[in-house]
Amino acid sequence: MDIKLAHPSKTTPEDLKQLANLSAVMLQKIRDEMLEPFPRKEAPLIPSGRLQELCGIDKTRMNRSLKKGDLPQGQQSRPGAVRYFSLSEAMQWIRAELKPVPRRGPGKVIAVANFKGGVTKTTMSTLLCQGLSLRRGRKVCHVDLDPQGSATTLYGINPHAEVSSENTIMPLIEAYLAGESFDMRGLPQETYWPNLDLIPSSTELFNAEFMLPARATAEEGHIPFERVLSNGLDSLKDEYDYIILDTAPTLSYLTINAIFAADGVIVPVVPDTLAFASMVQFWQLFSDLVTGMEEQSEGSKKEFDFLDVLMTRMEKKNAPRLVADWIRGVYGSRVLPIEIPETDLARNSSIQFRTVYDLSSSEANTETMRRIRQPCDEFVDYVDDKVSALWQGIEE
Ligand SMILES: Nc1ncnc2c1ncn2[C@@H]1O[C@H](COP(=O)(O)OP(=O)(O)O)[C@@H](O)[C@H]1O
Ligand SMILES: [Mg+2]
Repeated sequence: MDIKLAHPSKTTPEDLKQLANLSAVMLQKIRDEMLEPFPRKEAPLIPSGRLQELCGIDKTRMNRSLKKGDLPQGQQSRPGAVRYFSLSEAMQWIRAELKPVPRRGPGKVIAVANFKGGVTKTTMSTLLCQGLSLRRGRKVCHVDLDPQGSATTLYGINPHAEVSSENTIMPLIEAYLAGESFDMRGLPQETYWPNLDLIPSSTELFNAEFMLPARATAEEGHIPFERVLSNGLDSLKDEYDYIILDTAPTLSYLTINAIFAADGVIVPVVPDTLAFASMVQFWQLFSDLVTGMEEQSEGSKKEFDFLDVLMTRMEKKNAPRLVADWIRGVYGSRVLPIEIPETDLARNSSIQFRTVYDLSSSEANTETMRRIRQPCDEFVDYVDDKVSALWQGIEE
């Protein structure tokens, strides 16, 4: 039987090349328009009401501290108008008023992972970075380990045009292949968000997938390929309170490295049946992976400080609730008592390469903003409370 194709002409490699070029040009154009003035993002200002919330103080207390004059005064358009603080100013207030538990010992590495795409790994890892610095004054390094570079994009950086291989973690991998050591301290770059640095990604990170296993089989007596990142990150743990790893939606060598390097793992899940089914595979592979690590490292166990499931993109409907109940039934207390709702605000802000923490208070009505921000705040606080408890447990 003859099947007639809708498009009689064939798609040639030249056509594909043209498509690739067109889409790259289009993306650059969209980004330029979204990120005016070109091309950097700006951190939002914090109004005094939100700063009071962040510091856990009331208006009277804030006024008293303002009068004392030790803390930044912020800015008012005229006397009596709302006072706005820059993020760095807000962080000074938080350190002074909220007094977060200081880090003891090395910074914590947290990987956000799930082999499925679209479960908000990138969104939640970026929110976690922003939130830890904003809400707790932490110094954070975000490492983008997804060759697609979505997290890098959220910082207003074009992974194709503005990031070269040397800016990513590739030099670490190349040094490993050459049998040399590499100091990662030169890699993190400052971002538009104070106290939050980024090691960006570019498509060249795909090469790591071929390079890492090549060395693994080449000779004996060197560190196993899955520990390259873990070893490298050691040099950053004195400088950062947190190192947050955004991973690709595949069980790639980089993802394996991320899991091996992690002290804690956050697994975002969305409540739909197919995603639930794919989680079964995730746990199987994850468990095989960690068991494999244990065997290779001659009995020394790979343990995590925490491994939590975060339910995201929760809709108010019945079907997702049912799946959420299954998830809770299976994963029990590993499921965080926080649900990130599916909201238009979160979806729309990501179209403009922004997270809900990038929005200023005037960009949505208070209730709409609170609905998505509050659970994000709770998630960030949950992570920092957990880690703070670990730091407090370390003898001075
Ligand atoms: N709370 C939310 N409500 C609605 N859409 C969301 C929410 N959080 C993220 N998204 C959207 O979900 C999509 C996938 O998110 P992303 O963080 O890129 O996932 P992943 O990194 O797991 O592939 C993005 O288009 C993002 O805009
Ligand atoms: Mg992603």
